[in-house]
Amino acid sequence: MEKIVLPDIKDLHQIKVYESNGGYSAAKKAFDQSPDDIIDQIKKSGLRGRGGAAFSAGLKWSFMPKTTDKPKYLCINGDESEPGSFKDRQIFEFNPHQLIEGILITTYATQAKITYVYIRGEYHKWIKLFEKALSDAYENGYVGEKMKEKFGTGFYCDIFVHKGAGAYICGEESALMNSIEGKRGYPRVKPPFPAQNGLWGCPTTINNVETITNVPSIINKGWEWFSKIGEPKHPGTLLFGVSGHVNKPGVYELPTGTLLTDIIYKYAGGVPGDKKILCVIPGGSSMPPLRGDQLEGVKMDAESLKAYGTAIGTGGVIVMDEDTDLVKVLARITKFYYHESCGQCTPCREGTGWMLKILNRMVKGEASVHDVDLLVSVANNIEGNTICALGEAAAWPVKYMVARFRDYFEQRMSKEVVLPVANKVHSMRRTAFPLADIKE
Ligand SMILES: Cc1cc2nc3c(=O)[nH]c(=O)nc-3n(C[C@H](O)[C@H](O)[C@H](O)COP(=O)(O)O)c2cc1C
Repeated sequence: MEKIVLPDIKDLHQIKVYESNGGYSAAKKAFDQSPDDIIDQIKKSGLRGRGGAAFSAGLKWSFMPKTTDKPKYLCINGDESEPGSFKDRQIFEFNPHQLIEGILITTYATQAKITYVYIRGEYHKWIKLFEKALSDAYENGYVGEKMKEKFGTGFYCDIFVHKGAGAYICGEESALMNSIEGKRGYPRVKPPFPAQNGLWGCPTTINNVETITNVPSIINKGWEWFSKIGEPKHPGTLLFGVSGHVNKPGVYELPTGTLLTDIIYKYAGGVPGDKKILCVIPGGSSMPPLRGDQLEGVKMDAESLKAYGTAIGTGGVIVMDEDTDLVKVLARITKFYYHESCGQCTPCREGTGWMLKILNRMVKGEASVHDVDLLVSVANNIEGNTICALGEAAAWPVKYMVARFRDYFEQRMSKEVVLPVANKVHSMRRTAFPLADIKE
């Protein structure tokens, strides 16, 4: 199987090795075409964002205004703070020049002059590795003013590394821009979207690290080639970060549409002790979990997973065996979102805390059956009622874990206390995966 973003080439992080494997030739090829041609090829390739929402990359680039007096920017999102997600750091470590080359092509296509690569603050090692690659690229004339001479083009751009300070919320694109501007990492209300009103009020494109690392191969080998890999509606490969109860946790680059069971058993070596699987989260901790008996035939791509009432997210596959305490898992996941809520929106700020309190009660064996409904009610009142999708990220694991393991949760509740009727005013306005659609 051909690998696109993490090819098996020794020392590819070194600029000379990258060059000798055809590195930076895609940028040259791109600069010989018009920016619109490049956007058109990325659109036709079907490349979709790898940062969670799987939005068309080419379409996003096309939203950048063509005529404006304002400077344009590109932000590369390497905040990677979702529990279960650890793929972008592989690119910083093993293939940083392909990311840099992808940035050159993206800035040319969108006519941006400056790129900020926003890297998770805790990624000290990967920040250093990427900075080293970037300084080699500058020295060799691939970035900055020297590009004009190197590529024989009028176009040049600069790339800066911006370190995060350890906040999950700063991975959300508008909070990321506020963070770069030196402000508190609060998400902004959208619209206006970044292409109209981004960094310092100027047109801005924001893409994930893995998304942009795909770009040089698409330009070199053609959009037709890319569009035929994996699933037609979500083509290419994905970096699946597999963690939890598997024998070989790690990052596996596989075509979209690979069976979830193949990822777990064929690539990640199956479950230690050959235990049964109780639960799998397919795309990072914020995505709706699947039951162990629901895994047969599940294909890993954005469209297929929708049919199973979940989503591809960042491709972080978290496997839990039959001995896992799901109540504890859910309490731990919720603690993360409670801690990371920026506090701007009341439903998220208060709701994550309430969910955590209920779940802690459940963990201690002090909850009643009534608490299961109360928990879901709080989750429903967060979803769809916040400025950014951290609300959904906190609500989905709770409501879908309970929906799919209802008996499990009810059996764990020891007390048969009857409390006054809970608030059942469920906000279902933006429910992404209607429970009726779930194949139970
Ligand atoms: C709370 C929150 C955290 C996010 N964290 C990340 C992140 O760490 N990396 C990322 O690429 N996208 C993250 N996203 C998604 C970004 O807002 C944005 O959609 C993405 O960077 C766009 O890139 P793409 O189109 O290439 O996927 C996050 C979204 C939310 C709501």
